[in-house]
Amino acid sequence: MPSICLEDEDIHDMNQSPSLPIAAWAEGCYIYDTNGKEYLDGSSGPIAVNIGHGVPEVLEAMSGQAKRIVFTYRTQFASQAVLDLTAEILGTAGKRYREVVYTNSGSEATEAALRLVMHHHQAEGDTGRTAILSQIPSYHGMTAGALATSGHPGRREHLRALHDHSASVVPVAAGGSEHLLPGIAEWEAAFASVGAHRIAAVVLEPVGGAAGGAAVVPDEVFRRIEELCRASGALLVADEVMTGFGRTGAWFGHEHAGVTPDIVITGKGLSGGYTPIGACLVGDRVLPGRSAADLAFGHTMSGNPLSAATALAVLRYTREHRLAERAARTGATLRDRLATLAERFSFLGRPRGRGLLLAVPVLQHEEEFRRDPLARRICRTAQRLGLIVYPAGVSTRSQAVLVAPPLTIKENEIDELLLRLARTLDTVRTEAEQGKVAV
Ligand SMILES: Cc1ncc(COP(=O)(O)O)c(C=O)c1O
Repeated sequence: MPSICLEDEDIHDMNQSPSLPIAAWAEGCYIYDTNGKEYLDGSSGPIAVNIGHGVPEVLEAMSGQAKRIVFTYRTQFASQAVLDLTAEILGTAGKRYREVVYTNSGSEATEAALRLVMHHHQAEGDTGRTAILSQIPSYHGMTAGALATSGHPGRREHLRALHDHSASVVPVAAGGSEHLLPGIAEWEAAFASVGAHRIAAVVLEPVGGAAGGAAVVPDEVFRRIEELCRASGALLVADEVMTGFGRTGAWFGHEHAGVTPDIVITGKGLSGGYTPIGACLVGDRVLPGRSAADLAFGHTMSGNPLSAATALAVLRYTREHRLAERAARTGATLRDRLATLAERFSFLGRPRGRGLLLAVPVLQHEEEFRRDPLARRICRTAQRLGLIVYPAGVSTRSQAVLVAPPLTIKENEIDELLLRLARTLDTVRTEAEQGKVAV
């Protein structure tokens, strides 16, 4: 049976479908197409545009850096923008992190994290640690290694042959149908069955995104996973590509549980979508006495001054405008209002998520889901009606519509978002009642 990949239906060679509207310009929470149609960005694109579109401070930083120097190569020159960005990231992450490895995307940051894990254990002479425990559902990126670590069957189907031979990723899933994510019992069982001495790392998102649809790893589960890692010598890796830099109401998603991952994978919110950049924050324990700079990390464009200056401006804006606190407040209100709205529709469940990474679960019979996933249909209808929301999930249980607007969203824009979402859901229900589509 083919796997479902909710958000990728329109992807062609050029990564864009001819049927898509052409975006012309954007400001704050709104995007306008070339026909002048307005869209409220209710998902920050793919949960990336954390501070909204067209922020003048960021545009000024970009053009200022572009006029000075756009590119230097990391083995030939240092760049003030990179030095400042590293100081900003480490300053906000706390003393636990010692250095930053830059990449061009979240997927590449996952790859770097996997390599850091292997370097760590090999340096310790612990070469038998080859297993990575990964939660189902999960998504860690589109490159081969990152996909191998992802519990996202639809996206990794074509790589099955490759992944079968590298069989070191151990999926950890919920035991029953009551919970979407694995609990303490399942994690303990996975450590016991794989053998603590064989486990190199646990990789997990504090709150699920494309695959997990805003399912939150409960704090007590996260803490128990950390204990299991510490007791066994495995590293704890938090994938914060979606949750990092204020999205969940804290600077990082793992802070809610009070855990300290050894490596934090970031992307998206690091530059708020203004430029391609990703990064791994490397904890004290990972490379004792050594630096990632001594190892073969990095790509041609990683740590380029233009991306660094852009990300620095975005992070300063996020910090100075206290957007994490704002996300906690706005998220609580939005979640309550989404719950009230969802009650009106039999095909919606109770909203879940944290801060401004929220999702409304979408309920559908398995057969219908395989034929025409309802979350995807809701998102298509929403876009037609001027609202961008994001389809997520890999099964009927995880299927959801992500609602994750920029952290800067104002009260009247939340009203507008809910109005357009209600209109969307009414339209979808009417079409179902008229027999045009099945739910
Ligand atoms: C949790 C998570 N990890 C990794 C990635 C991959 O990031 P990128 O698309 O920048 O490669 C994503 C992207 O959606 C993500 O949500």
